[in-house]
Amino acid sequence: MSYTILTGDRATGPLHLGHYVGSLRQRVELQHQHRQTVMVADLQGLTDNGSNPQKISANVLNVVADYLAVGIDPLKTTICLQSALPALTELTLYYLNLVSVARLERNPTVKSEIVEKDFARSLPAGFLIYPVSQAADITAFGATHVPVGADQLPMLEQTNEIVRRFNHVTGQAVLTECRPLLSKVDRLPGLDGRGKMSKSRGNAIALGAGADEVHRAVMSMYTDPGHVRVSDPGKVEGNMVFTYLDAFCEDAALVAELKAHYRRGGLGDVKIKRLLEDCLQSLLEPIRTRRADFIADKGELLRVLQEGTRRAHQVSQRTLAQVKAALGLDFFALD
Ligand code: TRP
Repeated sequence: MSYTILTGDRATGPLHLGHYVGSLRQRVELQHQHRQTVMVADLQGLTDNGSNPQKISANVLNVVADYLAVGIDPLKTTICLQSALPALTELTLYYLNLVSVARLERNPTVKSEIVEKDFARSLPAGFLIYPVSQAADITAFGATHVPVGADQLPMLEQTNEIVRRFNHVTGQAVLTECRPLLSKVDRLPGLDGRGKMSKSRGNAIALGAGADEVHRAVMSMYTDPGHVRVSDPGKVEGNMVFTYLDAFCEDAALVAELKAHYRRGGLGDVKIKRLLEDCLQSLLEPIRTRRADFIADKGELLRVLQEGTRRAHQVSQRTLAQVKAALGLDFFALD
């Protein structure tokens, strides 16, 4: 079975290992059998960076470089830019009439982000409605499957509610419901073990991080504060080195053995950190090199993005035309 896949990433910074295990790794696999579109979500990035648009514009090509560096192939995957696709903005406005403010405020992901960002009454209206804009992203491409981390499940639920509502109101099956494709490793915690990996919390390893940076990050990782001497029994749960070994070390039997040894006592933090560092360095080394090559050729990054966006424009305009027709608002089209 072939899926129609859409995902995106906010262009708020370079992508990191959390993005990699949460979704990028899957996309590289999926692109071979399925029709996949990947979106640089610059508009969504603006929803909590309204007064700092430069932060978003400066990261658009970084994200494209990250995509290419991990192996997303522009010949197999359509890579596009959200702000260059007017259909997405238009669809958002139509969908907004099918969603109540109360429902938006109940979205668990948005709710916790509002608390975390301490918005209170200065909550940007655009931020509150970003799940609706995400519904536009997903439906514009008729996506049947969306590879995301678990924190995005409420977005898909809200999208499907809009889809059902729209189809019900218009009496036409114009929009398609979508399903998540969850990755094996859900939501990589940050290096400090506090919450998810995120650049703004300073607990992330970027995909383009230098070898020294990776070394330092691993050596400073949160382990088990009770594991003072090597001979002490140590805790594996909540120990970030083991959490990361589970995510990045392919030798699961070895990791299981090390966990048992660590629990018994007699296995030092430095040993397990060295193993993790080896895994991460060998994963990141080729990514870093490819990324640097792409970053050195901004013209090529722009070409890739523009080409993909052109294709995405055609698809999304078609959906918009269907949506307007279903609403009876297709009196005429300019140009
Ligand atoms: N909200 C997603 C994130 O923060 C990014 C995103 C934007 C997205 N549009 C999307 C994800 C469409 C999936 C589908 O990671």
